Amino acid sequence: MGTVKIAPSMLAADFANLERDIHMVNQSEADWFHLDIMDGVFVPNISFGMPVLKAMAEHTKKTLDVHLMIVDPDRYIETFAQIGADVLTVHAEACTHLHRTLQAIKDAGMQAGVALNPHTPVNVLEDVINDIDVVCIMSVNPGFGGQKFIQNTYAKVRKLRAMIDAHKSATLIEIDGGVNATNCTDLVEAGADVLVAGSFVFSSKNPLETIKNLRQVANT
Ligand code: DX5
Ligand code: ZN
Repeated sequence: MGTVKIAPSMLAADFANLERDIHMVNQSEADWFHLDIMDGVFVPNISFGMPVLKAMAEHTKKTLDVHLMIVDPDRYIETFAQIGADVLTVHAEACTHLHRTLQAIKDAGMQAGVALNPHTPVNVLEDVINDIDVVCIMSVNPGFGGQKFIQNTYAKVRKLRAMIDAHKSATLIEIDGGVNATNCTDLVEAGADVLVAGSFVFSSKNPLETIKNLRQVANT
C-alpha cells in the first residue's frame, strides 16, 4: 500500500476568506483538494456553483478531487474537465448507467470516482470495480460537513478492500465524512487510501499543523 493521502474538504473553509484558505492548503502537506458540489436535489443542500468552483480551481496546486452530489451528473462531465478536475466522483445512486458514466469521465481525461451513500452496499460495484479509479465511501449522509462518523464504515471498507484485492484492481478507497485523528488509524487499517477531512481541519486552531499531524498519524 502507498502513502495515505489527505484531502481537505473546502466545504468547511471560510467562504469569506477563500483565497487565504486555498493558500493554506497549497502550503500544507495535503495531497488532494476536495470540492463538494451539491444541487439541492440529490442532497438537501447547495454548496457552490461553477463560477466559484472555477475561481477555486485556478488557485489550487493540489490534485483537484471533485465530489458531485447531483442528479444526472453526465450533463456536467465536460464542464468539470474544462475546469481542471483531476478526479471526478459521481454517486452510484445518481447514475442509471454507471458504466457509461465512468467511461465518459475517463474519455474526458479525468480519473473516475464513485461515491456510495451509507446505505448502499459495496457489492453494487463488483462488476465495475476494475473501471473505477477511486471509490468514495460516505461515512456520513452527504450534504453537510461536521456530522458524526458512522461506525459501520469500517466493515464496509474491509469488504471493499477484499473486493479490490480479489479483482487485482488498483482502485483507491476514499473516506468522506467525520474523519479525524482518532478514527483515521482504524480506517487505514481497514484499507483506506484517501482521507477527506473538512471540519476537523478547518475548525482547528492551526489547520496547517492539523493536516500535517493527520497525515503523519494516518501513515504510522
Ligand atoms: C459531505 C461532504 C464532505 C464534507 C466532509 O457531504 O461530501 O466532503 O465536507 O466534512 P466533515 O469532514 O466535516 O465531515
Ligand atoms: Zn465530499
